[in-house]
Amino acid sequence: MPVLDASRDPRRQILINAVAAAVMAPSSHNSQPWRFRLVGDTLELLADPRRHLTVIDPDRRQLVQSCGCALFNAQIAVRAMGHEDVVTVMPDPEQPDLLATIQVGASVITTDAERALMRAIPLRRTNRRPFASRPVALSDTDELFTAARRPGVWMGRLDPDQKRRVGELVLRADRAQYRDPAFRAELGRWLAATGSRRTDGIPFAEKEYGSVMPFSVVRALRSPGLGSEFGKLEQERVEGSPVVTVIGTAGDSPGHWLAAGQALEALLLGATTRGLAAAYLNQALEIPILRRDVTNIIDRGEHPQMILRLGYPVEGVGHPAPRRDLEDVLLIVD
Ligand SMILES: Cc1cc2nc3c(=O)[nH]c(=O)nc-3n(C[C@H](O)[C@H](O)[C@H](O)COP(=O)(O)O)c2cc1C
Repeated sequence: MPVLDASRDPRRQILINAVAAAVMAPSSHNSQPWRFRLVGDTLELLADPRRHLTVIDPDRRQLVQSCGCALFNAQIAVRAMGHEDVVTVMPDPEQPDLLATIQVGASVITTDAERALMRAIPLRRTNRRPFASRPVALSDTDELFTAARRPGVWMGRLDPDQKRRVGELVLRADRAQYRDPAFRAELGRWLAATGSRRTDGIPFAEKEYGSVMPFSVVRALRSPGLGSEFGKLEQERVEGSPVVTVIGTAGDSPGHWLAAGQALEALLLGATTRGLAAAYLNQALEIPILRRDVTNIIDRGEHPQMILRLGYPVEGVGHPAPRRDLEDVLLIVD
């Protein structure tokens, strides 16, 4: 255990262990936009505005979603350690960065499902490579969605025509984004070169999408035309993936984004337990007009928050993306 609670209070130690699970969550550009404070018997989850991706995420939607993923991991960790997770979401309107508090509740018996999700936390990885053509049964995605859904959050599997139309939007989004120097500069700041000692950012080898495409950091920074090349590759991946799913919410507030993040991580961990991998196609949601087009294509309510493709990996899982040390994200107040 890397961080110990000097007071030797077992509940505080559970919360510290929960932070170790939380930081393994996925985050946009691996920005890890979270901070934690342990105050008495309460763990606070805070947004870290210094890690805000202002170009692709001006309203902080993905930042809050990423923190929702971390929150879900912390909750599962508390439950896997045999306690209820007592969570208060957005407890103080005066502190918009304080996204949630977690306390250790009464003892409970950990379920097999919770244990399986806990085991999946360090195994889950974003896999941007093509998936095997092996189909994913409808019953499998139905079970995954049922387990991951939360109040106000919906999930759906696209039909072939919807998949094709979303693929076109992904291509249009990539073209538009790579034309924007600010987009390329921001992406360049978060791509970590091979061998780098960075503890955040997307490792270049992962973003490389296998060996199919010579996608280098330098090209990302300099090539406005890369969007077409990259977009076509992503479009093929959308159409060739056994499942494309959209997660959406009934409203579009920080509370909805946090819930979407919790549901996303629940879905990703559930998928991991079944040997499934996932990759994101959120570029189509980062441009307001294209996000509206996605809403029209899926015709089931407003506010799409995430587009994912799911499938069985062809090659094994890649190397894990790095994470910051616990000491860098957790402040123990007393
Ligand atoms: C809210 C959110 C949005 C993301 N959007 C994208 C995306 O559009 N494209 C992509 O390739 N990865 C996306 N990712 C995946 C992250 O890049 C990935 O989680 C991060 O690099 C850490 O790697 P890991 O998931 O393997 O731990 C997203 C993750 C989150 C949580």
